[in-house]
Amino acid sequence: MSETEIQRTLAIIKPDAIAKGVLGQIITRIEQAGLRILAAKLIHLSREQAAGFYIVHKDRPFYQSLCAFMTQGPCIPMVLEGERCIQRWRDLMGATDPAKAEPGTIRREFASSIEANAVHGSDSVASAAFEIPYFFGTLEIYPGR
Ligand code: CMP
Repeated sequence: MSETEIQRTLAIIKPDAIAKGVLGQIITRIEQAGLRILAAKLIHLSREQAAGFYIVHKDRPFYQSLCAFMTQGPCIPMVLEGERCIQRWRDLMGATDPAKAEPGTIRREFASSIEANAVHGSDSVASAAFEIPYFFGTLEIYPGR
């Protein structure tokens, strides 16, 4: 991957962050980092929709609980774009477990637990290629660039 490669990633502001009222602060961090928001919507996932999104974790002990958590309230999936966007968004989020996340990261500041961890981000180009069309059709994504 080149240092200047333009990538897209799927970000989700999770139900716990919306319930806490920190949506605006998270979006401000995205804007301040210079990542472009190409698509966003507020949706309340069904259990089946959450299960399909996290299908890669279906054998993990936390899978059922994670799917229940993701249906507790609305979430905001977004498509972000920028140079090395996948890693830059992951750096802004911090580690999955907020207790292990670096100070100043979104999860350290706003997450409640390893499950209710405020935000999601694709972990690779391949994951983004599955996750973006899971939520957005071509016509829902601003063409960018
Ligand atoms: P996310 O980045 O969306 O990817 C998978 C999610 O599963 C993760 O954030 C957490 O919400 C959740 N998760 C990961 N590990 C655990 C765990 N050990 N216990 C509970 N939930 C977890």
